[in-house]
Amino acid sequence: MVTAVLLALILLIAYIYHLSTRKFDYWKKKNVPYEKPTPFFGNYGKHILTKEYLGWTVQKLCKKFPNEPYFGAFFGTEPVLIPQDPEIIKLILTKDYTYFSGREVSDYYHKEVLTQNLFFSSGDRWKVMRQNLSPIFSISKMKNMFHLIEKCSRMLSDLIEKELEKSDIIEVTDVMTRYTMDCICSLSFGVDTNTMSDATDNPFRIMGELIFAGSRYRAFKASARLIWPGIFYGIGMKNFPPEIARFFNKLVIGIFNERQNKPSPRNDFVDIILAMKTNGRLCFTGDSIKGDKKVEMVLDDELVVATVVGLFAAGFETSATTLSLGLYELAKNEEAQDKAIEEIDAYLERTDGKITYECINELPYVEACMEETIRLYPVLSVVNREVTEDYTLPSGVKLEKGLRVHLPIYHLNHNPEFFEDPETYRPERLYGEEKARVRPYTFMPFGDGPRICIGLRLAKMQVIPGFITVLRKYRVALAPGTPRTLDLEPKVLVTCPIGGVKLRFIRRDGK
Ligand code: HEM
Repeated sequence: MVTAVLLALILLIAYIYHLSTRKFDYWKKKNVPYEKPTPFFGNYGKHILTKEYLGWTVQKLCKKFPNEPYFGAFFGTEPVLIPQDPEIIKLILTKDYTYFSGREVSDYYHKEVLTQNLFFSSGDRWKVMRQNLSPIFSISKMKNMFHLIEKCSRMLSDLIEKELEKSDIIEVTDVMTRYTMDCICSLSFGVDTNTMSDATDNPFRIMGELIFAGSRYRAFKASARLIWPGIFYGIGMKNFPPEIARFFNKLVIGIFNERQNKPSPRNDFVDIILAMKTNGRLCFTGDSIKGDKKVEMVLDDELVVATVVGLFAAGFETSATTLSLGLYELAKNEEAQDKAIEEIDAYLERTDGKITYECINELPYVEACMEETIRLYPVLSVVNREVTEDYTLPSGVKLEKGLRVHLPIYHLNHNPEFFEDPETYRPERLYGEEKARVRPYTFMPFGDGPRICIGLRLAKMQVIPGFITVLRKYRVALAPGTPRTLDLEPKVLVTCPIGGVKLRFIRRDGK
């Protein structure tokens, strides 16, 4: 009996081992250079075990193949292509993007409410959603909404004053998250979330924390979903806690009812969705990804909630982190801070002290500070794609449908071949003529091609007024104990520093 159990156990272990390594000859068979993987974890072990920031794991792999336009690796048990030649990246993101329209494990998008949103979608579904959501972010819509951001920037100023009554040291990621969360909620659903006036037990903050929770368990679950989606969903697991969808469902349905299912004069995101009614039904209509047919998607409750949560999630964390890390770099680089302050003072003199929509175009040095921050700390250290139709690279290598592609954004941004002295914060490299010399497809702060960040303009509309609000009154400096090099969080999708960022705020003379 004992022998039989032992034998069964050995067979089971052997079978699991076989499953975990059965694809490991994928790149060898294709004659593509690749890094030898370890069972279960492939080449991403440190990241999957939440010991290393994803950008660094992929950067280390890239450094092993400095002269290869692309190479193979394994994310857990699954093959992944890592292209590092800008010409190949251009094919994937732009020229042949219809073959790479998936985000990763796209066949499973329908398994959770939240993964039905634009970010996780692929093919015709992605195209039609994108076509319908893009007008939300048009210049005219953004301009009309700017007064809401301006109001939030005044509240940010009050919040900073309140924090300074307690101490001249401020943990900026917390303050900036409250600012961007109030901005995005005001723009999205016309709700005053008031996280800046009172953050205690604020339901939006709780939802934000649930979406980006940096626990080991959540991180491990996210990797498991990407590696074995069939088993993951088969045993009833979910990436996102169900209370997020429940909360936003109640919120959105409440707003729809309040507005009697008709657009209100507010012209916020919810109104724009309500205006998409065709023949009494909420619908997304548009072209297929190949442009060969018309596609209609009914906007049921789940899709509305997925869309709204997608905008909420993408809208606050990204901009808050960029603002916080931008202030951190300016605190370390006094000369850049001087130049940013000089540009801000000149701008405010022109506008009589008012922050206007035009700030996103009229402060090129501050914009360069923002972009240089994203170069050092790209919001997504790796941008994912999935092959959605068999594709042959110019070299003749065939990539089958379902293959993952990891675009190594962090590595490109830190590669001395593309950026001289890459670890140095120097906004001038992304300013004026010098910016024009940056090689295309080596610096993509918002991604590139038809799938480029849809909220790019809104991101600038939050970040630049954030910089203005702080620097018009204060200088920033590192707080005692704040390190000059930051450790980055391995447990969340977006790049963020472990333990926040503490800065000293010094009131400028006469401000
Ligand atoms: C500093 C702030 C931000 C940065 C650096 C950033 C960066 C990015 C990047 C790199 C991508 C992936 C693009 C690709 O796959 O090629 C992306 C996608 C996306 N971003 Fe942003 N983002 C920011 C702010 C925002 C804001 C404010 C919103 C608005 C709600 C937003 C909404 C989205 C959405 C919905 C996608 C998915 C687009 C698609 O798949 O078609 N982002 N962003």
